[in-house]
Amino acid sequence: MCGIVGYIGNKKAVPVLINGLLSLEYRGYDSAGIAVLENNEIVVMKDKGRVANLQNMDEINNLNSSIGIAHTRWATHGKPSKENAHPHTDNSEQFVVVHNGIIENYNELREFLTKKGYKFLSQTDTEVIPNLIHYYYTNGIDDDDKFLRAVKSAVDDLKGSYAIEVISKLHPDRIIVVRKDSPLVIGKGNKENFIASDIPAILSHTKDFYLLDDYEYAVIFKDSIKFFDNTLIEHSKAIKNIEWDATSAEKNGFEDYMLKEIYEQPNAIRETVGSRFSLGEKCSFDDIDISKEYLSNIDKIWIIACGTAMHAGLVGKNAIEKLCRIPTEVDIASEFRYRDPIVNEKTLCIYISQSGETADTIAALKLAKSKGAKTLAVSNVIGSSITREADYTIYTHAGPEIAVASTKAYTSQVVLMVILAMYFAEILETCDEKTICELKSDILDLPTKIETVLDSMEKLEKFEKKVYTEHDMYFLGRGIDYDVALEGSLKLKEISYIHSEAYAAGELKHGPIALIENGVTVIGILTDPDLTLKSISNIQEVVTRGAKTLIITNQNLGNVTFDYVINLPETNSLISPILSVVPLQLFAYYIAKNKGLDVDKPRNLAKSVTVE
Ligand code: M6R
Repeated sequence: MCGIVGYIGNKKAVPVLINGLLSLEYRGYDSAGIAVLENNEIVVMKDKGRVANLQNMDEINNLNSSIGIAHTRWATHGKPSKENAHPHTDNSEQFVVVHNGIIENYNELREFLTKKGYKFLSQTDTEVIPNLIHYYYTNGIDDDDKFLRAVKSAVDDLKGSYAIEVISKLHPDRIIVVRKDSPLVIGKGNKENFIASDIPAILSHTKDFYLLDDYEYAVIFKDSIKFFDNTLIEHSKAIKNIEWDATSAEKNGFEDYMLKEIYEQPNAIRETVGSRFSLGEKCSFDDIDISKEYLSNIDKIWIIACGTAMHAGLVGKNAIEKLCRIPTEVDIASEFRYRDPIVNEKTLCIYISQSGETADTIAALKLAKSKGAKTLAVSNVIGSSITREADYTIYTHAGPEIAVASTKAYTSQVVLMVILAMYFAEILETCDEKTICELKSDILDLPTKIETVLDSMEKLEKFEKKVYTEHDMYFLGRGIDYDVALEGSLKLKEISYIHSEAYAAGELKHGPIALIENGVTVIGILTDPDLTLKSISNIQEVVTRGAKTLIITNQNLGNVTFDYVINLPETNSLISPILSVVPLQLFAYYIAKNKGLDVDKPRNLAKSVTVE
């Protein structure tokens, strides 16, 4: 969704802003713009379409300013157009603003400002903000804090979510920022400071970050930053050093981020397992303080997330129920938050979110907290909003995931959820030591096994070439293989735009088999030894009806023949998704490439879904 960048220092701002916007492109957007203070005037350059459109504007390269703000917009209020693109100025062109989020009461505020004589040039909710700032500025007491107070008065009128950057030609030495329910980070440099909605946008400039809290203001000068609370009392703030390497947010020779991230999975798993356990040792989660007494008293675990993260939750549920025997339910965050869920002090709610900024997941977390449940966040982004809301946080260490289609984050989430399940089982003593010990050994072998899977993909490419022009495909599996089928189907839809459905193989006869006709493509996943024979029977039913089949398996299929079979290394079925998902990720990737699509930035999708 929308992205924000800001710069103040001694360098030319434009290249920093443009590069920042380029590295935020993965979030998804439909227009882009920048505003700088040039010779004490606000200069805005913006347009519909890609950041490249800005780069192609001749005038942009003549701007020498060293203070500026920038934005990529993902349209919510008003269609993608030059007028609706950010930044937006007030009528007098003294203040200029970029904004992420949604101002819910913008109609009311527009009416108020219209009565005061203000005019609106766009259909956006954002345009009320610079005009409100102007209104409070011109009606405020004249002193040094006038600009900040005007911003605060304007922000006090806003209902909704926002991350806002403001500059003013009346105060050319500062950028003011504030946030609520929308991410914003400040990068500290040497006599220069950076602002962004996402760490990777400015990671090449600094590793020292301030993570702004909800309702917190920062006034950013080139050589200092002042922080204020919601009553404008100044306070100090701790800096966080982010270990991510800037090159980890680059393509490093791969054609696309998605491919690079698929290939990074062995390392992402190694990093996520880290020192959580070693053979012969119990699992350790020093970062969370969950006692045996607490765990013994909970009667239910909810796992809540969206999209791929929810699919990782399904695998987590399987592990928790098998190893800990705690009833566990998985829900989609946008459903959970409105279903009046049964949640209380005896419920542990686990929220999985790569970005840690997904609006529905955060809202679902706040809801459970308000009902007295303990909340645990699983995130990939240090200091992300969800980690600041949750009672406990554990991190995947997948490194920055840039491609919209999640790959290495998924496998890292799965491994972390399984380790968490082992940890709970060790505390509760619900599982025998031998089972856990074997599972640990299989987890430690995963990186090498993923490498083997990545090295043997020729059959997959052959099959993909036969089917990439099709319009519908079906994914089948039972148990944990059904969980993976859901993820494989989502990957295919997201980046290849082929309609696909995942079905629990046993459900086929109850309706979906009516869709199977000659030549239809069916992908079967068979990794659970206890369910293989049953799944084979289901897949034979589609073969009989003329389906083309691709089977992903680590089982011996005997003398049953299918069109293509991808053999995976054997592993414990609790973690088999970490291997079986890899061919499905590559299958979607190859198809999208063959169709000439932009795999990293699929249409209509955003990496961080920060609005409801
Ligand atoms: O950042 P999150 O993990 O909270 O994101 C959740 C979903 O939006 C995300 O997994 C989405 O489904 C991906 N595009 C899937 O590839």
